[in-house]
Amino acid sequence: MTEAAPRAPRAGVAMTAIGVAVIRAWESRRPDRLYDDPAAQLFVDAARRSIGAGPDGEERWARFEALAEQFYEGRSVSVRLVDDDVLAAVEAGCPQLVILGAGLDTRAYRLPLPGELDVFEIDLPELFAFKEPLLAAADARAVCARHVVAADLRGDWAGALRASGFRAEVPTHWIDEGVLGYLRREEAIRVVDTLTDLSAPGSRFGVAQFDTDQHSGRYTELRRLVRPGADGPREPSGLGPAAGQWLGEHGWRTTFRAWDDLVAPLDRPAALGSRDLGLILAVRQ
Ligand SMILES: C[S@@+](CC[C@H](N)C(=O)[O-])C[C@H]1O[C@@H](n2cnc3c(N)ncnc32)[C@H](O)[C@@H]1O
Repeated sequence: MTEAAPRAPRAGVAMTAIGVAVIRAWESRRPDRLYDDPAAQLFVDAARRSIGAGPDGEERWARFEALAEQFYEGRSVSVRLVDDDVLAAVEAGCPQLVILGAGLDTRAYRLPLPGELDVFEIDLPELFAFKEPLLAAADARAVCARHVVAADLRGDWAGALRASGFRAEVPTHWIDEGVLGYLRREEAIRVVDTLTDLSAPGSRFGVAQFDTDQHSGRYTELRRLVRPGADGPREPSGLGPAAGQWLGEHGWRTTFRAWDDLVAPLDRPAALGSRDLGLILAVRQ
C-alpha cells in the first residue's frame, strides 16, 4: 500500500520555502552550478503535484515559477554565500548551527559537515509536515546531528530549541536566510533579542542589509500568492536599516561586507551596483 503524498502548504509564509526550493533545483541542474541540492527537485515535484492540483492549480504553479525566476540570480548566489559561511564557521570549530525559518533547506544532508555538529532547523509545523515525510520516503540521511524544531518564531521558540538539545553555553552560528523579513519589525527584533541571550561569546550571526522595495512588482506578486487578498499597505518588517547599530549596542562586533564584492568571484549577474548593500557579519563578544 502506498502512503498519501504530504500536502504542500498552499498559502501562508511556509509556501515561500517551495519557491526557494524551485531556485535550488534549477541551480543544481546547471553544469556551472554553485551547489548541488538533490532533494530540492524531490520537494518541487511533490509541491507541484499538490499545488498544481485543482481547477486553478496549473495557473497558480506557473505564477509561482515565474516569480521564482525573478528572484533566481540573487537568491541562488546567496545560498552559496551562506554555504561558504557555514563551512567557515565549522572550520573555525563552531559546534552548533541554528537555521531560523529553515524551510526546505538540506544543508544537514548535502554539505560536508562533521558528524558531531548539531544542526537545529526551526520552522512552522506545516512546513515540517510536508518536508519530513518526503525526506523519510527518500531514505535521506543527515551527515550530522539534525534536530527538527517545529515552532513559531513569534512564540516561545527558545524553549522548543532548548528542549531539542540546544546548548547556550557553546558558540552558535545563526542563519537568517529570508525569514526575519516575514515578521513585523517588533517581532523580528524580539527574535534577535532572544538569540542574543542564547549566544555564547564567539557566536556568529549574518544579517542582510538590503533595500528590498516591498512595493516593487515581484514583492507585490509574492504577497498575492502567499496571502491572497492582502493587498493593503504594509507595516515595517524585518530588522530594518538600524540592524547593525542595534547589534553593536547589544554586545555584537559587526563588520560589513558589500554584496557586490561577495558575489564578484561567483561570476553571476547578481551585482547590485551599490556599496551600501550587503551583509553584516556579527560576532558575539
Ligand atoms: C523564504 S522561506 C526561506 C526558507 C529557507 N531559509 C531557504 O532559504 O530555503 C521563509 C521560511 O520562513 C518560515 N517562517 C515564516 N514565518 C515564520 C515564523 N513565524 N516562525 C517560523 N518560521 C517561519 C516559512 O515557513 C519559510 O519556510
